[in-house]
Amino acid sequence: MSHEEFPTERPAVVTCGLPYANGDLHIGHLRTYVGGDVYARALRKLGQETAFVSGSDMHGTPVAVNAEEAGVSPEEFALEWHETYEGTFPKFGVEFDNYGHTHDETNVELTTDIVRTLAENGHIYEKEIMVAYDPAEEQSLPDRYVEGTCPYCGEPARGDECDEGCGRHLEPGEIEDPRSTITGNPAEYREQTHKFFRVSAFQDYLAKFIDRLEGTPNARNQPREWIEGELRDWCITRDMDWGVDYPDEESDLVLYVWVDAPIEYVSSTKQYTDRVGADTFDWQEAWQDDGDIVHVIGRDIIQHHTVFWPAMLHGVDYTEPRAVMASGFITLNGKGFSTSRNRAVWADEYLDEGFHPDLLRYYLATNGGFQQDVDFSWERFRERVNNELVGTVGNFAYRSLLFAHREFGGTPDADLSPEVRERIEDAIDEFTAAVNDYSVRDVGEAAVSLAAFGNEYIQRHEPWHLVDEDPERAAQVLRDCVQIAKAVAVLFAPVAPGTCDRLWSQVGGEGSVHDVELDAALEPPAAEFDEPDELYEKIAEERVEELNEKLAERVAESEAAEAAEEAAESAEAPDLDPVSEERIGFEEFEELDMRVGEILEAEGIEGADKLARLVVDIGVEERQIVAGIKQLHDLDELPGTRVVVLANLEKAELFGVESNGMVLAAGEEADLLTTHGDAVPGERVR
Ligand code: 2FM
Ligand code: ZN
Repeated sequence: MSHEEFPTERPAVVTCGLPYANGDLHIGHLRTYVGGDVYARALRKLGQETAFVSGSDMHGTPVAVNAEEAGVSPEEFALEWHETYEGTFPKFGVEFDNYGHTHDETNVELTTDIVRTLAENGHIYEKEIMVAYDPAEEQSLPDRYVEGTCPYCGEPARGDECDEGCGRHLEPGEIEDPRSTITGNPAEYREQTHKFFRVSAFQDYLAKFIDRLEGTPNARNQPREWIEGELRDWCITRDMDWGVDYPDEESDLVLYVWVDAPIEYVSSTKQYTDRVGADTFDWQEAWQDDGDIVHVIGRDIIQHHTVFWPAMLHGVDYTEPRAVMASGFITLNGKGFSTSRNRAVWADEYLDEGFHPDLLRYYLATNGGFQQDVDFSWERFRERVNNELVGTVGNFAYRSLLFAHREFGGTPDADLSPEVRERIEDAIDEFTAAVNDYSVRDVGEAAVSLAAFGNEYIQRHEPWHLVDEDPERAAQVLRDCVQIAKAVAVLFAPVAPGTCDRLWSQVGGEGSVHDVELDAALEPPAAEFDEPDELYEKIAEERVEELNEKLAERVAESEAAEAAEEAAESAEAPDLDPVSEERIGFEEFEELDMRVGEILEAEGIEGADKLARLVVDIGVEERQIVAGIKQLHDLDELPGTRVVVLANLEKAELFGVESNGMVLAAGEEADLLTTHGDAVPGERVR
């Protein structure tokens, strides 16, 4: 830990990565927002002055492309989604102090101002570069308008990011074999003048910054490779209409979306100050003087938050981020979410099924460490709700409060026992340590393990027997239990804000549990309170079957529709490469050592969206091979499958895993090449 521990005397700003305003939110998207909300609430519990802000990302090609498809202007399109998101987040208890958008006046002004200052400070220069161009459409192809191959790892890449391979940001002109996504035609490269941010000049600063940066280990370690390697300048303009105009110049260029997007973190904080007054929260103190800035993001945008953004902030003398918390990837029943295939649990759908938002919040916040990949399944959801929320937290609170209410009308008149006081103090310490470790999971664990202790405590002392045998002792035990319930309400409130507010009133708490700090966990509970009701309800097994069936049906329907569409498209225009004109001799063919193999093991590589690690028996030996098939095949079904392996391909390392050979496949769906007769593993393919 390189900074003073939380709580500090400085104002903190917790931000969540801005969602592109371009489509429906599913529960996978919610992971970062729930994580950010839990973290901001937990900071406040420590007494830390905190603003929690975000906004919709309105610009850039991710919005322009989808708006074009929908046949409306990007502004109309993005505003509609922005309003939807504004309504969705609070339904999941994600309560931003301010939720703006990048196209609003505050952000356009502040962006213009910051870019102007960067230019005045000599951090921006002009350069001629080659950019992709579609001659048929007579237009430039920025970012998502172009697809091709990543020059660093060879995986398919889209415009400005290698989203299926190494995860790198790609500069205009870098992508290999570019194709226009508008016409599908090969793109040309044409010369154009663009503005560049001199990131390379910040290398020394960034090298020190990364040593100071706190947060999840992925966000602190991954950027070292970029910062310590060749740090290249960053093209910050695009030739398109939709975006913030590059200031003070008569050009058609707008700023690259990744310039005005993070500035919205500042603009959104400013809007919050404008609303509540600088006495309540001063955005300038936080961003221009000395604040504690914590960015909560998905792991795919670590580079933007640990390289480009801190350099921009430093270039205008704003506060650098104190921490970056980057969440892992989320899958659904072991496979990626797919919005196009309707393979998702949509945010609204979850609520329409009648589930309380706190159940999902609990699952998302605690099912794995924040940086770990997490799988969602209705089975696991049911298991965790039934065992932990119903069985541990709900059960303890209900049995304790019901018994105390029936026998004593509320909290019995007795002193808190030293054992329970100490246990609650430990839970408070665990909570505080979790916040300082940037672990939302441990924030939740602190409360749930306290409730588990409560269950064990009440079971150990059996107050139901003591009531007749030793009423004074019974009063003491129940006094302890009510205190534990109150402490659970306080400590669990960041994760389960709705149900903990109920628990807070059940123990006779005044106002809202969200207005109290950690020390309230040890303050005496009310002498009187009403009969409690149960906080959580069990989920029946049949519900899970029903929900799985619904999901499977929907996916099947949309896959069938997609397959029909693809079949129709390929019947019209088969998109096949012409056979290469360059012939090779038989000897060259003989150099390819291809063998029949049998897959023995197949598992997804953590952190990689597409890659799987295979162990393949090729007769003479077993080979570990990395293949880009994670989401295209059911990995559990692969062992036993015969494949063809290029065995003398150079070794490579992907996501830290050595790949020793290549499994041959064809087509978009990675149809695996196989044999059909009696060839055994190890035989050569000729
Ligand atoms: O990757 C994305 O979804 C971007 N819209 C995130 C922007 S976060 C930020 F820096 F503003
Ligand atoms: Zn790559």
